[in-house]
Amino acid sequence: MIHPLTDRHNRTIDYLRISVTDRCNLRCGYCVPPTPFTHMKHKEILSYEELLRVVKVAVSLGIKKVRLTGGEPFARKGLIPFMEQLSCLDGLEDISVTTNGTLISDKIDVLKKAGLTRINISLDTLRPERFVQITKEDRFEDVIKTLHNAIDAGLAPVKLNTVLLDGINGDELEDFARLTLKHPIHVRFIEYMPIGEGTGPAKSELLAPAILKRLEKLGELTPVTRDAHDGPARRFKLKGALGEIGLISPMSNHFCATCNRIRLSADGHLRPCLLSDTKVSLKEPLRKGADEAAIEQLFRHAASIKGERHNLLDHHVHDMMCAIGG
Ligand code: GTP
Ligand code: 5AD
Ligand code: SF4
Repeated sequence: MIHPLTDRHNRTIDYLRISVTDRCNLRCGYCVPPTPFTHMKHKEILSYEELLRVVKVAVSLGIKKVRLTGGEPFARKGLIPFMEQLSCLDGLEDISVTTNGTLISDKIDVLKKAGLTRINISLDTLRPERFVQITKEDRFEDVIKTLHNAIDAGLAPVKLNTVLLDGINGDELEDFARLTLKHPIHVRFIEYMPIGEGTGPAKSELLAPAILKRLEKLGELTPVTRDAHDGPARRFKLKGALGEIGLISPMSNHFCATCNRIRLSADGHLRPCLLSDTKVSLKEPLRKGADEAAIEQLFRHAASIKGERHNLLDHHVHDMMCAIGG
């Protein structure tokens, strides 16, 4: 058996996040920059054939979980056939997607058949009029349909990702948390990460300690033990709830010590850490004819330069969230 992918800090890397496009049909202020920017051109983006080759090598190095992100992953054509190909790879245990949920309300069954195991839906408000203000598009009902259809299809656990900002949606924390009482979903509150051009430290972000205090006022809150495929969320359950609440706290209490992931950006760079601009080009060697062994070496190199922890408070990250995929 090939030596699994590890870094210099004794962490095993078994989770690959692939951003398949930097495009999104929504324009949330914390993710997409306020000023117009140039999207990647089609030829700059790795083709599905190239992606499949890369994932095959990654799986041979012990990657067990692949998450497709964007931008909005379903804004790229051909994603479902690509998922089908991924689902044929022996050793890949989890194929998940992080999506804004606007484009797939009628495709959940097809996605499940294509091998999708889980879905995380980004939703920052439960109020239709506010949804338009935050995303600049009137697609709230589509997201809600996607959410219900995903629950009905048994894509469990369906996770909702919510970035809370005071003055925008901070007052909805309790409404989001209460959703877990009646629905078997995981609502995750994510701390805002100030990255990309035109972003700075947010004065209005809600951090996990303050969120936890408000949650505790809603009722008895019990910690839930992590499981094998868990991402970075600390998990909790309100008494009697069908669902769970997660706290993702990269700013107030980072989870780098247990980081098990590596990222591939749409333009073909391996990125050892979300919160560092350090990256290794995979596309260039791939297009110059790199073989499987050379691709493996690029993965090993990227893992070997993964920092022990992020340093976002001291170093600004210039690449945009929508190009890295969160
Ligand atoms: P699960 O595997 O389902 O728990 O998903 P996940 O939390 O790994 O993925 P998702 O795409 O839903 O990400 C939720 C939030 O966590 C997003 O805001 C991501 O940017 C953030 N996130 C995910 N992985 C990392 C990470 O490695 N580092 C940091 N700082 N944030 C991350
Ligand atoms: N800080 C924290 N989370 C973010 N996301 C996008 N931009 C940011 C940011 N600046 C989240 C989205 C989505 C996930 C992939 O990343 O809400 O759920
Ligand atoms: Fe891993 Fe970087 Fe995220 Fe820390 S900030 S958990 S090192 S990707």
